[in-house]
Amino acid sequence: MSNRPAVLLMAPLYEPIEQALQAQFDCLRLPEPPARQAFLASVADRVTAVATHATVGIDRATIEALPKLKVVSNFGVGIDTTDLAACNEHGVTVCNTPDVLTEEVADMALGLTLAAVRQIPQGDHYVRTGQWLRAAMPLTQSMQGRRVGIVGLGRIGRAIAIRCAAFNTEIGYYGPNRKDDVSYRYFDNVTELAQWSDILIAACPGGPATHRIVSAQALDALGKDGVFVNIARGSVVDQEALIARLANGSLASAGLDVFDNEPHVPQALIDMPHVVLQPHQGSASVATRMAMTELVVGNLVAWFNGEPLLTPVNPVKG
Ligand code: 8YV
Repeated sequence: MSNRPAVLLMAPLYEPIEQALQAQFDCLRLPEPPARQAFLASVADRVTAVATHATVGIDRATIEALPKLKVVSNFGVGIDTTDLAACNEHGVTVCNTPDVLTEEVADMALGLTLAAVRQIPQGDHYVRTGQWLRAAMPLTQSMQGRRVGIVGLGRIGRAIAIRCAAFNTEIGYYGPNRKDDVSYRYFDNVTELAQWSDILIAACPGGPATHRIVSAQALDALGKDGVFVNIARGSVVDQEALIARLANGSLASAGLDVFDNEPHVPQALIDMPHVVLQPHQGSASVATRMAMTELVVGNLVAWFNGEPLLTPVNPVKG
């Protein structure tokens, strides 16, 4: 057994994170069940720190199998897969990677919005398959003068709003609270926001509070010319209702970076030529993933050095 401090990896992580962690710590890898419980019992007396990523997080059973656990460093701003209540109960601080990915994810939101509204991938396909030689491509919708509704005006939602304003759009938003420092139109429920909007962009955190917040009713309110964009989490939209409405023409298009049960995208979406799909690429540029890496590693180094954590979500006192 190594004398270096142990860090438990919940899943394989981005290579530069693994390299940086392996240089300083004894990296332990969590096996799949049924070997998992016996493994956790065998390392429980020396695991104080965990590294994970936003798709995997850490569940209550693992937290409770590690009584000495004090810090969870999460690759990603979203912590909806981490059981925060269990972390709070057991005095575990969760760290995430805010701010460094805000602009990158907002760029993806606008890319998906433009791609879905102007049918850009479809145009690419049109050229490549020689259809342009036979006829001009059908006309598309426009961004100009449209109403964009943003579900969640946090850091990423605000960065999306700033970009949308440059496209001469009107902006409305839904959030649990009205923001005093913006002049965008506020809606206190998503269906009313969708009713007002031409384009609805989900940018809220995942988790129980936002589960299916973009409901079938909200999608109906968005209407047959409506475009839905999701860079948040698959869980925030009723995916079945979304597919049904895209299939029967009661919604015009969608730009989707996130899904239920990633990476398994329903075949119905894959088969739809009028939607634009991405494999959860919001933060996935080299530069942004490196900035996220620095935070994931920096939080663990700070913890083992007894220094203040860089980006704690739920600072634990004492
Ligand atoms: C990453 C994300 O794709 O930050 C988040 O919450 O979903 C993305 O940045 C993810 O962390 C990689 O697992």
